[in-house]
This record gives sequence, C-alpha cells and structure tokens, in this order.
Amino acid sequence: MSTTDAPAEPVADSPSSNGTVDKQLKREIDRRRTFAIISHPDAGKTTLTEKLLLKGGAIHEAGEIKARKADRFAMSDWMTMEKERGISVTSSVMQFPYQGYELNLLDTPGHRDFSEDTYRVLTAADSVIMVLDNAAGVEQQTKKLMEVCRMRDMPVITFINKMDRHGLPPLELLDNIEEELDLETVPLSWPIGMGDRFRGTYNLYRDELHLFSHADMEGEHERLPIDDLDDPQLDEVLRGQADDLRFDVELVREAGNELDLDAYRDGQQTPVFFGSALSNFGVGDMLDTFVEIAPPPQPRPTVTRTVSPYEEAFTGVAFKIQANMDPKHHDRMAFVRVCSGRFEKGMEVIHHRTGQTLRLNNATTFMAQDREGVDTAYPGDIIGIMSHGRIKIGDSFSEKEPLHFTGVPSFAPEHFRKVRLDDPFRAKHLKKGLQQLSEEGAIQAFRPLRGNDFILGAVGELQFDVTLDRLEDEYNVDAHLTGAPYACCRWVSGPAQDLEDFEAESMDNLFRDADGDLAYMAVSDYRLERTVDEWPRLSFASTKQHTAEAESS
Ligand code: G4P
Repeated sequence: MSTTDAPAEPVADSPSSNGTVDKQLKREIDRRRTFAIISHPDAGKTTLTEKLLLKGGAIHEAGEIKARKADRFAMSDWMTMEKERGISVTSSVMQFPYQGYELNLLDTPGHRDFSEDTYRVLTAADSVIMVLDNAAGVEQQTKKLMEVCRMRDMPVITFINKMDRHGLPPLELLDNIEEELDLETVPLSWPIGMGDRFRGTYNLYRDELHLFSHADMEGEHERLPIDDLDDPQLDEVLRGQADDLRFDVELVREAGNELDLDAYRDGQQTPVFFGSALSNFGVGDMLDTFVEIAPPPQPRPTVTRTVSPYEEAFTGVAFKIQANMDPKHHDRMAFVRVCSGRFEKGMEVIHHRTGQTLRLNNATTFMAQDREGVDTAYPGDIIGIMSHGRIKIGDSFSEKEPLHFTGVPSFAPEHFRKVRLDDPFRAKHLKKGLQQLSEEGAIQAFRPLRGNDFILGAVGELQFDVTLDRLEDEYNVDAHLTGAPYACCRWVSGPAQDLEDFEAESMDNLFRDADGDLAYMAVSDYRLERTVDEWPRLSFASTKQHTAEAESS
C-alpha cells in the first residue's frame, strides 16, 4: 500500500452503452467516496466528523458541528430548527475534497433523533467508518446499525477512539469486534499505552511512529519514520514503552490477520485504527487509508438489471425525504443518490413511479456548510430535489429506460403507539396525513384488520413526536398517542391459502401498512418466534422493498 494522491482503481466494471468509456466521467466516479459514520451515542462520531471536515477545509473552526448537535438535544429547539430549515439539511450530507478525492459524508443521526432514516441513509453509502469508544467496545446501537450494513456486505473501517483515556486492552477490543460483529479485524495501527500513558500509535503499514502529546492535545503530532523496530531512536522517544511496542507488534504481525482488500470490500474484514478524535490524533492516518482502499461508487441493483455507475445515461434513486424545507409551502426535499451517468442542471428525467417528466432546474448539492445550486453531479453524489409530496422513498429517476432501483427498504418498526384523535370529525384528515407521512418515510402507519385505531410504528421514539407535531401543523389534526402492546412487527407473505388461514387465526395481530401490505405484530420476540415456527410456509420479513407500480397520473 502506498500513500499516493491518485484515486484507487475502481472495483466495478466500466461499461458504457457504446463500449467506450467516458474518461472524464470515469475519473470523477473513481475519485468519489460516499460513506457514513456509525457509532453508539457518545463514542465520538460528532467529534470525528468535525475533524474530517476540518481536514477537508469544509469548516474552519472546531465546534461548528458540535454546536449543531447540542442544539438538537433540546426537543423544542430541534423542532424549531426543522421548521427553519438549513441546519439539519446541510448536516445530512456533506461533500468535501480531500487529497484529490471528493468525499460525500452522509450523516446518520444518533441519540434522540435516531430513526428509520438512520437505517435508510446507510443504504445510500458505499462504505462506513465505525467509531468505537475504547472503554466500551461494540455497543448496542452500533450492533443495530451494523446489521443494516451487513445486509449489503458494506465495507467497514474501524476507528477505536478516546485512546487518551483509559480503556479496554487493544487485543480485547479486537476480540470484542470479532465476536460481537462476526468481522475479522486487521489492525493497521497499534497504540502505545493508553490514558495517561498514551504515547501514540505505530502505523503497521507505513512503518511510522506517530507521537502523541498530552501537553498539546490539539496541536500537530510528530511523525517519525521507523522501519526497524530495533532502531535505538525508539528507546529514546518511548523509553520503557519501547519494548512493550516491540512485543505487541511482533505478536500482532505473527498472530494477526493480513489485510485482504477483497475481504474488506466484501464486508468480511475490517481494518482497525486507534486514535483520539478529540485531539485529532490518528484521524489523518485513518482517512489516508480510507480514501485509498474504500470503494468508489458501486453498481446498484434494479428489478430488471444491475446499473453500473459508469453508464452514460443518468439514473438516481430517492433514499430520504426531508419535509418542510419551506414552512409556508410544505415543501419536501427528496435526497437522490446519483447511481450512473452525469447529472446536469436543467436536465429532464422520468420519474418512473408516476411516469411524469421532471425538469431539474433547482437541484441542490451539499458542499459542506452551504447549500448551493448544483450544475453537475456524478455517481455517488447526492442531489436534493424539491417536491410537493410527489416523490416517495425508493423512487427511481432516469433519462429514458424504465428502472426501479431496489435496496432502499422499509425497516420493521421497533416502537409502537396507538393514535387517538381529539376531534373524531378529523378522521379523514388523519388518514390522509398518515398516508403521506408514511410515504415519505417519516413514520409507518398500520390499519388493523379488525378495528379502527391506527398503530404507528417507528425505529426511533422521536419519530412519534415529529409525527404529532406535523399532523397538527400540516394537516390541522390534533391527536395524541397511547401505548400499544407490541414488541415487534414483520411483513407477511406466502401462498394464498396459508395467508387466508393465518388471517383467520391471527386477525387481532394483523394490520395493513400504507401500501396495503400485510403486517403481523407480536407482543414479544418469543411470541414472534412461536408464530414463525407454527407457519413454516409463510415468510415473516423484517424489511420491505417499496412498491413502485406506475400510478395513473
Ligand atoms: P457522538 O457524536 O458519538 O455522540 O460523540 P461526541 O463526538 O459528541 O463525543 C462524546 C463525548 O466524548 C464528548 O464529550 C467528546 O468531547 C468526547 N470525546 C470524543 N472524542 C474523544 C477523544 O478522543 N478523547 C476524549 N477524551 N474524549 C472524546 P462531552 O463531555 O459529552 O462533550 P463536550 O463537553 O466535550 O463537548
């Protein structure tokens, strides 16, 4: 592995309609990296994001991203900000340059604003950086997010953070990743002590010593090229810890795994870096390797065929809808990942679900802080398209060929509430509101086969608050929520006769979602397991692809 500025060779083939490759398009694709950072709350994702943006020149002061996060903590502020727009949108997607590469960082919110969006955004990324707290290892939210990454075998680079604090021994952390995530680890840097005794890391690939300074946490950290660990310089700078490092490196080199790029790109192996995001230590080391080995924009599956990013014709897929871009107009912004070809401002594309042609004059790009009108975008880039509720999650766009991208699913909700109307005469408005909010992925609304009360399902609790707020604001519906006795939900499909029997027997636990698909809700995981065993010919799915039949327009 070398430290060059030249983008890595693409993983994907480079076909085009006439067999030739558009060189400029290829160059732009190959230098793009579209990724997300995942972590459990407090592991250091915000801090790391900030350091990455500082490195890319996208922000100029530490604290800018942190301030946004602090604001998001207070529910009322968050709502106000949602209405005022701008902040949460610009922080959703950040594009910034780094060493000749163009990085698209997709924000996956954590904490209270964890939602189905968090999962869905991951489906638009080509790889992820996983941040772990060195004192905690793999935590619950990281596990949940990794399950989604696993669905697409996404490549993962691990950053073990907070080495300036005391944590678990490095080998124990690696074992923890292997056991909890079933992922082979390959340390590419090795820490020298931790907490008060943290002296830096040794880059196992570049044979370079990176020295950490407790006295000047924010300052530049010194690098010493040391290609022979017996070099007496090591004893001079590390004193008593030099032998510890020699021992550790020998152990890791003998007993550890070797970096296997294919295994990394297949999501089977994770390169690991140790550092401290707060003191900007180890971040550059990780980022240099990330741009070099992380995959460029990858082919995306559609119902009919796989679309290569190098195809000349533009295609894209909507993976997120952001509501109320302008509170006066109830606008929505659809976040569309460019999947192939070149997007150009003003181009006409077909919106396949509706069959309508859209002229994209006002697409938005996400150059770090400021939203800017975009003239050209390439595969891996995200563009924002304004829509008045016409665009749904999973909608596909192309110049001519009718395509339906798959891989932007709905995820089974994990929290449930019953909706109660304050004014029964607003029932029609409630229905309309819940239908639209479901279509844009803000919440999932389920209608019982028996009875009338809608059940709302969410991946994150905050989705309920947002739904109530928007029902009141946009649909003039006052409603409140009560508890619902469910712990899990699955979409059910199978042979007609079995479905009929199942419906007859389990009527009280069955619902239709906003697309009309059948969903089963169980009071416990145990109950769900029993039901799955009892109905072997039925399939109980925890994700669902969006239906995209053309609507009569
Ligand atoms: P998150 O987005 O994953 O939730 O984590 P965030 O970056 O907000 O970091 C959580 C806390 O951990 C913050 O402290 C942050 O300063 C601290 N932190 C992040 N990286 C490091 C590191 O490398 N070393 C140490 N020692 N701490 C780190 P806080 O007290 O919650 O916030 P603040 O008052 O520092 O802003």
